[in-house]
Amino acid sequence: MSNPARARITAIGTYVPEKVLTNADLEQMVDTNDEWIVTRTGIRERRISAPDEYTSDLCVAAARNLMQRYDKSLDDVDMILVATTTPDFSFPSTAALVQHRLNIPTTAGAMDLSAACAGFVYALHMAHSFILSGLHRKILVFGAETLTKITDYTDRSTCVLFGDGAGAVLVEADEERDRFLAYRLMSDGGKGQHIYLNATPDRRINELTLTDTGYIVQNGREVFKWAVRTLPEEIRQLLNDDSEGLTESKVDWFIPHSANLRMIEPVCEKLGFPLDRTLYSLVQNGNTSAASIPLALDRGVRDGRVKSGDRLLLYGFGAGLVQAGQLLEWTLEK
Ligand code: ACO
Repeated sequence: MSNPARARITAIGTYVPEKVLTNADLEQMVDTNDEWIVTRTGIRERRISAPDEYTSDLCVAAARNLMQRYDKSLDDVDMILVATTTPDFSFPSTAALVQHRLNIPTTAGAMDLSAACAGFVYALHMAHSFILSGLHRKILVFGAETLTKITDYTDRSTCVLFGDGAGAVLVEADEERDRFLAYRLMSDGGKGQHIYLNATPDRRINELTLTDTGYIVQNGREVFKWAVRTLPEEIRQLLNDDSEGLTESKVDWFIPHSANLRMIEPVCEKLGFPLDRTLYSLVQNGNTSAASIPLALDRGVRDGRVKSGDRLLLYGFGAGLVQAGQLLEWTLEK
């Protein structure tokens, strides 16, 4: 097999569950209010998976949306990567379940990867690397979550944040040129205790004993401060630029993980990048972790803001704590 050493995204699809949970609904469940949630986060509503709807179901629906919109067959997919913190099971992988449901040939590889809210960008980086190796040519990448299944709806500090959704892209070998322009990964496991889900009693991390609640536990303030402090410098490094920062001449659309609008605003301000060239999905979807970046990107594609030739900076950050950024050239129309 020849080694094209070039890749691009050739299709995108998304899916969100039908049920909407608004801030007004949450007012009936915990001691909170729309004004607090919008002021502190920017979130207005989120989608909630049905009791019998799991991450693999969301992936299958997102892939069907991709096939329908871009007239794509999955018969020659040779690898499936699912970035998720909420797999249907610890094992088998969500990716293997998706392979079977979509009738993708058994010759394709399938695996899940765990990098929380940076997961989709990590998976894109892996897909790009696999294609550059010359060993794979067509990779189906998902960022998908059913976070509301691990959200404690008696804890007002977390339950207002999270939602469910899935995004899928195809990454294919490109004979022309490489559209993956630059990337950067980082990990800071010394801060792992700031956001976690623990399923093991009395498990210790960084000298701290974690409680087994079965739900997401986080020190929101610490995650917030870390992101706002570190993202601008990491992004400058990704762009190989320590003077100008993130400018519109280099990036058409900045697509950060949609955790909280109040985190995105100061990051844009520090980078000198206009908020209106930033895409986020949090207003309608809340924080959907690995799904948030493809949901935001697809919104921009569908409404015609993102056009072929645009340079996109995708930037994920979250539990780990970890970050992943990818600068790429978009080549699709809606
Ligand atoms: N409604 C009303 N009041 C609330 C609510 C709520 N939903 N939640 C918390 N409060 C109260 C608190 O009890 C506290 O009250 P007190 O002052 O009387 O003690 C007050 O509001 C302030 O609480 P803080 O936690 O300090 O509020 P903060 O301004 O930091 O906002 C938030 C909290 C929104 C969670 C913010 O810290 C945040 O977004 N952090 C980042 C979290 C995040 O993005 N996590 C995901 C990372 S990605 C991943 O991998 C999943």
